[in-house]
Amino acid sequence: MCGIVGYIGNKEIDTTLVESLKLLEYRGYDSAGVAVMGENGIMVTKTAGKIDQLKEILPHHKASCGIAHTRWATHGAPNTINAHPHTSQDKSWAIVHNGIIENFGELKSQIQSQGVQLASETDTEVIVQMLSLSKYKNIEALIDVCRQLKGSFALACMHQDSPDTLYLAKQKSPLYLSVGNGEVYVASDTICFAGRTTSYYALADGEFCAVSANGAIFYNQDGVEIVKEPIALTQFDQDVGKKDYPHFMLKEIMETPKVLQDIHKVYTERGVLELFDAEFMSRFDKIYLIGCGTAYNASCLGAKWIEKYARIPARSMIASEFRYANPLVDNRTLCIFVSQSGETADTLGACELCKMNGAYTLALTNVLYSALAKMVDIVLPVCAGREIAVASTKAYTAQIAILYMLARQLGNVVQNGDFNYLAQLKDLSTRLIMPDQAKLLSLVQGLKGEDKVFFIGRDVDYLTCEEASLKLKEITYINSSAYPAGELKHGFLALIESGKYVFVIATQNALLDKTLNGAHEAQARGAKLVLVTQLDVPQEKLANVHSVIQLPKFDQEIMPIVSIGVFQLISYMTSVERELNPDQPRNLAKSVTVE
Ligand code: M6R
Repeated sequence: MCGIVGYIGNKEIDTTLVESLKLLEYRGYDSAGVAVMGENGIMVTKTAGKIDQLKEILPHHKASCGIAHTRWATHGAPNTINAHPHTSQDKSWAIVHNGIIENFGELKSQIQSQGVQLASETDTEVIVQMLSLSKYKNIEALIDVCRQLKGSFALACMHQDSPDTLYLAKQKSPLYLSVGNGEVYVASDTICFAGRTTSYYALADGEFCAVSANGAIFYNQDGVEIVKEPIALTQFDQDVGKKDYPHFMLKEIMETPKVLQDIHKVYTERGVLELFDAEFMSRFDKIYLIGCGTAYNASCLGAKWIEKYARIPARSMIASEFRYANPLVDNRTLCIFVSQSGETADTLGACELCKMNGAYTLALTNVLYSALAKMVDIVLPVCAGREIAVASTKAYTAQIAILYMLARQLGNVVQNGDFNYLAQLKDLSTRLIMPDQAKLLSLVQGLKGEDKVFFIGRDVDYLTCEEASLKLKEITYINSSAYPAGELKHGFLALIESGKYVFVIATQNALLDKTLNGAHEAQARGAKLVLVTQLDVPQEKLANVHSVIQLPKFDQEIMPIVSIGVFQLISYMTSVERELNPDQPRNLAKSVTVE
């Protein structure tokens, strides 16, 4: 995915565009660029690398209308030529794009046959060349070209003959704008409106807009003018800064107890889970939980808990696999989509498929105005507040806390129980303290030079291992793997070499001895065992353990909500020790809006 912005107004154009772009850097940071409408036409400045590199070469243009882009490369290498904005061969149009044009090859051949020389390898350049070839002008040209595009796009374009107007289009990728006080802001995320406006418009799929400082005119896909209502900016949109933290990731990890308190408040006051009563649940005979990456890891815990407490068949699936697996989904299936952003292309695709098959759909998402939230029958809010760091932390913890409560609620209604999960969450949220970094420092210093690390556990602890391992590899680039502790001798023991770290998560009393048995098999091959537990493990069982991370004591049923925090912090600290930027790991972006 990429971030696109636009501005019309009297503020210094380059600074204003770059300030907005900086807020969208989480969406991609392979290259960045700006195009402004200067006195002599469109002027473009762009470069490979991050926005700070763009800032160094950016002149202060005299202009009042411009567009800008921060890129996560899909078509074409992350170099300056492929950086956006792109211009048409005759330099009359400039464009920035977030999304992917699936029929780009076919369109490229068509425009090449009309004598157009393409400067870049991108799908985006094809759009801008088509705009200049169109027999229509301005917004009509954009509507005409978009009819020929297959795929996903949010587009902001300028034409030299209408220097005070931006032309916008949206299909699947997000696009928002605000107009007022002689200014226009356009952005891929409402985060760019904080402190600048109190309301905004959200373009829906198939909608277009021509906007100037005088106002916005909206069109549907047939080019007919439509009226849209503005939406008020919320607290969520305004949570933009790092506060006093060096990185967003650390801020977000440390916010976890507050997030759990917010979940308790919202879910208690609004009785969010009361919908799931016996009558409602009688409509379903199975549940799918679907997500990608960390959200998939959360889905796995959700499925395990639902089967354990409610005894309803529940299966977690990776969205990109689910879509092509011909899944057993019908009108007696409840499909739960887990997504922090609500923008992930495969999760959206999986949701479309479930809807087509008549399933009841539920989104567990942090972004209540996201495409996913709009697509489903019901939304459960994650209540984590803005998450900016690419590595998901507080949102994962919030997702599993809510899935745990949902499983308990289903257990109560289906198994006739009366478990007070809200009281349990309240206790957790008021007593939970995040781990002390100082106590983890020597371990992190040992870890920072490693090339591979292992995580083992059983049952829910194995699922925590998967998330801990993803976190570590994502932001430290250490090759880490997670295995069920019982699987060691079925293959993975062959990877163990002397001195390698093996994290052993053991929070379930009944499984402690079995997990330690597996761990000792690794230790016998020279592994350094780091035991992570809240249990009082007798000294004799710790004889061969290199170190122990003692977790705070809570009911073992909710330990996955507690234990992940220490691994989020270890991953963060190891990334910093390796002199990396934990907020912006290489090759990644916060949410993946392409398949
Ligand atoms: O926004 P989503 O929750 O749908 O994103 C899914 C994954 O792309 C995401 O969790 C990814 O794995 C994170 N970088 C993990 O930290």
